[in-house]
Amino acid sequence: MDWGMENRLSRLFQADGHCMFLPIDHGYFQGPTRKLEKPGKTIEGLTQYADGLFITRGVLRNCIPADSTVPVILRVSGGSSVIGADLANEELFTDMEEILRLNATAVGISIFVGTDYERQSLMNLARLVNECERYGIPVMAVTAVGKELEKRDARYLALASRIAAELGARVVKTYWCENFEKVADGCPVPVIMAGGPKVEDRGVFEFVHDGMTRGAKGVNLGRNIWQHEHPKAMAKALWAVVHQGADPGTAMEIFEAEKSA
Ligand code: 5RP
Repeated sequence: MDWGMENRLSRLFQADGHCMFLPIDHGYFQGPTRKLEKPGKTIEGLTQYADGLFITRGVLRNCIPADSTVPVILRVSGGSSVIGADLANEELFTDMEEILRLNATAVGISIFVGTDYERQSLMNLARLVNECERYGIPVMAVTAVGKELEKRDARYLALASRIAAELGARVVKTYWCENFEKVADGCPVPVIMAGGPKVEDRGVFEFVHDGMTRGAKGVNLGRNIWQHEHPKAMAKALWAVVHQGADPGTAMEIFEAEKSA
């Protein structure tokens, strides 16, 4: 591996090999998502618990101060919306020059395995990897599910994650599922978990802890943090699960203590 690639990956994954990314990219297909209307405000007090910020160029340029020290994972695929014909119909919307100009530490792109746009999204990934590898920039593939495919079992997620790695992704972001070891063990690059819609507090700690013990290397978790009434307490407790091996009970204690601090 070359120095630039290694350096970028080591900024994202801490010495323990784990990472906690904070995604605020939801607006690229959802518009002004609840509690993400003003992204700069949303992340106030949370960046100390973020090893990376998953974000589009538009929000980065307009809402994040340029002296921010949190590594940027630039979302570079999009072109569809929640009210459009097909969420899976994405293209690359940010070119290499812009990726470099914005000083991205990594880039992120969705793939839609099993949908009508499977091939298109996989070729988007392949093209992006070809470009980014030349410049030592890691590509994170997001195993997204289109509207028509709400399939999130280990068999599907292992398939999608492995394909992403085979095409050259350096990191794969997928969903937690039962038997997560089947996903992690079948993927030769680090697999991290997205959060999905908000669930009750302990439920988040439980699935993150379960995934971590079964081979996940971290999380890319947004709404369960910043849509929470106590986002900082959630972030602090999740950080403990990801980086300190806290179990769900300990995470709850950390959450409760921070909430009432
Ligand atoms: C949206 C994304 C998000 O980054 C991802 O879904 C994680 O956020 P959340 O935890 O809110 O689901 O890729 O397409």
